[in-house]
Order: sequence, then structure tokens, then C-alpha cells
Amino acid sequence: MEEMRLQKYLALCGVASRRGAEKLISEGHIAVNGVVVTEMGIKVKNGDKVTLDEQPVKPEKNKYYIILNKPSGVLSSVKDDRGRECVVDLIEGVNARLYPVGRLDYDTTGLLLLTNDGDFMQKVTHPSFEIWKTYQAVVRGVPTESDVKRFAEGLMLDDGKTLPAVLDVVGYKGNNAIVEVSIREGRNRQVRRMLEKIGHPVNSLKRISFGSLELGELKPGKWRHARPEEISRLTEDR
Ligand code: URA
Repeated sequence: MEEMRLQKYLALCGVASRRGAEKLISEGHIAVNGVVVTEMGIKVKNGDKVTLDEQPVKPEKNKYYIILNKPSGVLSSVKDDRGRECVVDLIEGVNARLYPVGRLDYDTTGLLLLTNDGDFMQKVTHPSFEIWKTYQAVVRGVPTESDVKRFAEGLMLDDGKTLPAVLDVVGYKGNNAIVEVSIREGRNRQVRRMLEKIGHPVNSLKRISFGSLELGELKPGKWRHARPEEISRLTEDR
């Protein structure tokens, strides 16, 4: 192993993203050669023994990229203090420490990527990556052309103006509309807040694509391995 920073090594081992690894370090969970390390910047090299809560940490040999159709009522996390079901509980038969790439709300369904590749996670979730994500929503009422324009210009929310976004009305359900919304940020409850802001609150929300990855016909609760070319395309063309 080449000499590298501890947080990079932890990410390589699939323990957490680099930012998550920094938190583990500062909270005193990580030891190098038996000594707890809480400062950033330390480097590790071949032969060093790294532990997480006294359990050895080793690089993951196999990298996994899993596309899940997250059902409603499941948390986008690894574990929950209150015992609620988490997305990783739905992935059986994969012997790796998987982490969700970003989050969907508890009641949002659809495409969620999970991986044990910390470097990939770091890259794709970094705000500068600005990957396009498309959501399908059933909303109250029917947005107008002027709403479409407001999305395209960026919408002022409590936490500032959004980047330009795309709003498309794709169908109707009684007095309600089915819309598709594409955004390239990942703010908390962003799509719900944007639609609420234009006066068309969300009844249900599903993510149908993440960059070039598409949910397709995958049923809620089901998952599949992403093909290698799907993953390379995701990081190549944006
Ligand atoms: N925007 C939301 O409002 N909720 C999600 O789960 C994802 C994007």
C-alpha cells in the first residue's frame, strides 16, 4: 500500500466516506498501531494496523454498486437508534459494508445507489459534482407555464436560491398533476419544498433517475447490481 492519509485509507476500506471517516477519527473511534488518533493529517503505510472500535480495518477487495428501489417507510441509513428499517437491511447476500450514496426522505421512494466504494461516494456526493437527479411527483393542482419558468430561473427557498431546475407536467390524476422535476443539488427535502413554494404540494415522490442511472422496472424493495459500464458512465458524462 502506498502511504496515504488516514481518512483516505478508511474510505478505501469502505468504512465511510472521507468526510464520515474524519468524523470517526475526531470522535476517537480509530487507532493506528494501537494508539487512538483524533487529529487529521496522519498518514498510514504498509504494515500499519488500523482499527475501528478495536476491530481491524482492511481494504475491501470487491467494490459493489447496488441500485435499490427504496420503498416508503425505510430510512436512507445504515442503522437507526430507534430500530426503524434501514435501506441496507433490504440488501441480503452481499458481504460488504454498504452505504447509501446520498439520501431519500423516509417517505420518498425510488432509485437509491448503495456502495462500499468510499472514493466513489466522496466524488459523487460532493456538491461540486452537481449530478442531475429526476423525480416524479403527484402534486396538488396543476403547475402552469409560469411555474415552469420559475423553476428554470431558480427558486428562492429559506436556505437561498436554487440552481436552475426543470419542471415538466407529464400527466394528470383527477385534479392533480403528475410532474417530473430535475435538480442538480441535494438540499434537504428540496423537491418537496420547491413544489410547495409554487403552491403545488407533493402527495407522493419517487426518484426515477440519478445521473445516467435509471430506475426502470425495478419494484419497490428490489435491487440489482449496477453494471460496470453504468458506473463508469455515471462519473464520465454529466
Ligand atoms: N427532494 C425531496 O424533497 N425529497 C427527497 O427524498 C429527495 C429530494
